[in-house]
Amino acid sequence: MTEGLRHRSRTWLLIWLIVPLIFGTQSQAEEPETGLRQQLFSDLKEDSKTLARQLKNGEYDSAEITAAGLEQMVLSLRNLFPLSSKGEGRSRDKVWDNWQDFDQQLQDLAGDYRNIITGIRQQDESQIEQALQFSVSSCRACHRPFSYRTLW
Ligand code: HEC
Repeated sequence: MTEGLRHRSRTWLLIWLIVPLIFGTQSQAEEPETGLRQQLFSDLKEDSKTLARQLKNGEYDSAEITAAGLEQMVLSLRNLFPLSSKGEGRSRDKVWDNWQDFDQQLQDLAGDYRNIITGIRQQDESQIEQALQFSVSSCRACHRPFSYRTLW
């Protein structure tokens, strides 16, 4: 092999190594948190429907378990918006720019589920009803400013 050829093949080798590195980083997959929070939000949607149905039917034991699961989901969501995932998914940049407000709304929603549990334990139907209403209206109240699309 001549010196020139050997040089050229080394150059190609470098290109084959470097090009995927560059493009690989640019088109890098989303942060794992983005997919996780979307999964949790769809679970939240399903389980909040289940909760409303259980409460309507007076299935309080099951409703208490569902509400406890929902409370945990919402608390987990608080950890699924790392700064590195800004702009990913359907979240607007506002989520991170107004983090305290956003996070407070998540905490309030977790509190609504907690109040439903308390209401069930104290057999306080008006508390249950009110907390359920709060939890349901929180979805739209948060999506309008913080999420790109109206979801339903
Ligand atoms: C504190 C704000 C906030 C509250 C409260 C909230 N959401 Fe969301 N929701 C979001 C954001 C932000 C997204 C976009 C997530 C992403 O794609 O990055 C989202 C996305 C979703 C999605 C789409 C998930 C997907 O697959 O893309 C569903 C479904 C959803 N929310 C349901 C609900 C329901 C049901 C409630 C009320 C019980 C609710 N959300 C309350 C902020 C909120």
